[in-house]
Amino acid sequence: MSKNFYATTPIYYVNDKPHIGHAYSTVLTDVLTRFHRLFGFDASFMTGVDEHGQKVQKAAAAKGVSPQAHVDEYNLHFKNLWAKLNVEYIHFIRTTDGYHKDFVRDVLQKLYDKGEIYSKEYSGWYSVGEERFFEESELVDGKDPISHRTVEWLQEKNYFFKMSKYQQTLIDYINANPSFIMPDFRKNEVLGFLKQPLNDLCISRPKSRLAWGIPLPFDEDFVTYVWVDALVNYISGVQNFKHKDGSAFWPADFHIIGKDILTTHSVYWTTILFALGWQQPKHILAHGWWLIDGSKMSKTSGTGINPMDYVDNYGVDVFRYFLIREMVVGLDATFSHDSFVRRINSDLANDLGNGLNRIHKLILSNFDGKIPAVAGGISGSSWGEQEKELEGYSAKAIEFARANIGEVKLSLVVEEVLNSVKALNRYLEATVPWKLSKGGEAEHEKLAVVLYAGAEVLRIALALLSPIMPQKCEVGRLMLGAPIIDENSLRFGVLQGGETLGKGEALFPRIVEKTEE
Ligand code: MSP
Repeated sequence: MSKNFYATTPIYYVNDKPHIGHAYSTVLTDVLTRFHRLFGFDASFMTGVDEHGQKVQKAAAAKGVSPQAHVDEYNLHFKNLWAKLNVEYIHFIRTTDGYHKDFVRDVLQKLYDKGEIYSKEYSGWYSVGEERFFEESELVDGKDPISHRTVEWLQEKNYFFKMSKYQQTLIDYINANPSFIMPDFRKNEVLGFLKQPLNDLCISRPKSRLAWGIPLPFDEDFVTYVWVDALVNYISGVQNFKHKDGSAFWPADFHIIGKDILTTHSVYWTTILFALGWQQPKHILAHGWWLIDGSKMSKTSGTGINPMDYVDNYGVDVFRYFLIREMVVGLDATFSHDSFVRRINSDLANDLGNGLNRIHKLILSNFDGKIPAVAGGISGSSWGEQEKELEGYSAKAIEFARANIGEVKLSLVVEEVLNSVKALNRYLEATVPWKLSKGGEAEHEKLAVVLYAGAEVLRIALALLSPIMPQKCEVGRLMLGAPIIDENSLRFGVLQGGETLGKGEALFPRIVEKTEE
């Protein structure tokens, strides 16, 4: 099996500043990539911004600046947020970059030369909000069915990609590759959509109506439809990149997207790839939406909470933790102040933070700040049933992560890790090391076993959570004096005894509400 991994995020419209939806798509992709790296993959992902099209042109016009000036300013909001959220991408693409524009034009010329694109006079209902035509039958109360805005009747010449030609090829491909579109219910949704005859795709906009786009190479009076321009980024951005073993980045392992852009990815993009004779991405994964206090997010929803404030108020890592723990990938999730506080306090402050502080303090005061060695090691006679059971929890978490990363079951991975930490806290209640520390030689030996076991469980938990909370887990690792986190560190018994603990830190302070003070 190839140990290379390349994932993509959607590229974001720069018509407005980023919000939790954008943050989630990118953090999820970053975490998935880091997990693959932890399991020994040469893993990276790409992100970027979608700078052409009507939305952006309108946003610029509303501010009275040129589209170029607007995108030069707004792409930075995204770049800065990614730096703040500690996401590590290999490349940040802007669709106004010269190499991307050239690539898009090459792709279109190729399709044109192959006879995959034709022009015709077209009339239909056009929605400025969605930047596309709708069939009469698709309209809801005479408005566009997605953004519910008014549509206008337009008649114009345009260029079309022969998408309909690939309908059966696509259906067959999806059926033959059951994990191509994830989760399963989204795959079924796409197959349902494909039961209706597929139209050809309008891939141009007359310059007279929209100037802000990439001119078609075979007719400079038109610019490229923004979605075609955008989808091609997944290849143009990494065209010259190679994995360490020399292989190309394309095909991507994962396109991570939100559920609202599933059709553009699983129907438009895939059929374009068929027409080009290029490989399909391995998986398209659609995640759900974040709702705020249960309602759809909008500036006017009036809930008064902005999830992005939580990054500044509580820290990047716990914010990332909440996003990954709280959303079952594929389903919607709710962001609320109470659920945030509850999650951080119970999982991180009570379970993980407490366990870590206990073990750190007890080793500091009883073993001179050095990891105690277990006589006979973890296969010796002092390693009893309780210890084996505890070790089993860590082993289970490692195996579960290894087996489920490919299916992006990240919230469940976290749950398994937390189970091992909870088991540790129960073990500490049962073995009462704070009492053992007051006993004689036999108790001291038992204490060594208990604290060693505790340090190992925590070391592994921190390693498995490090893709989600890279900074905090690194501090925790240093606290335990443990070797660097890598694939080899994912087994019980890595600590040898004698490692010097780092300085103690309150890694996950409890969030204290004003009313509790
Ligand atoms: N520019 C296109 C994508 C082109 S990809 C070739 C676009 N941009 S977007 O900025 O509008 O949205 C980008 C992503 O943010 C989408 O995946 C979308 O699902 C996600 N989200 C926007 N709001 C969201 C939530 N409230 N919750 C979760 N994600 C949502 O579409």
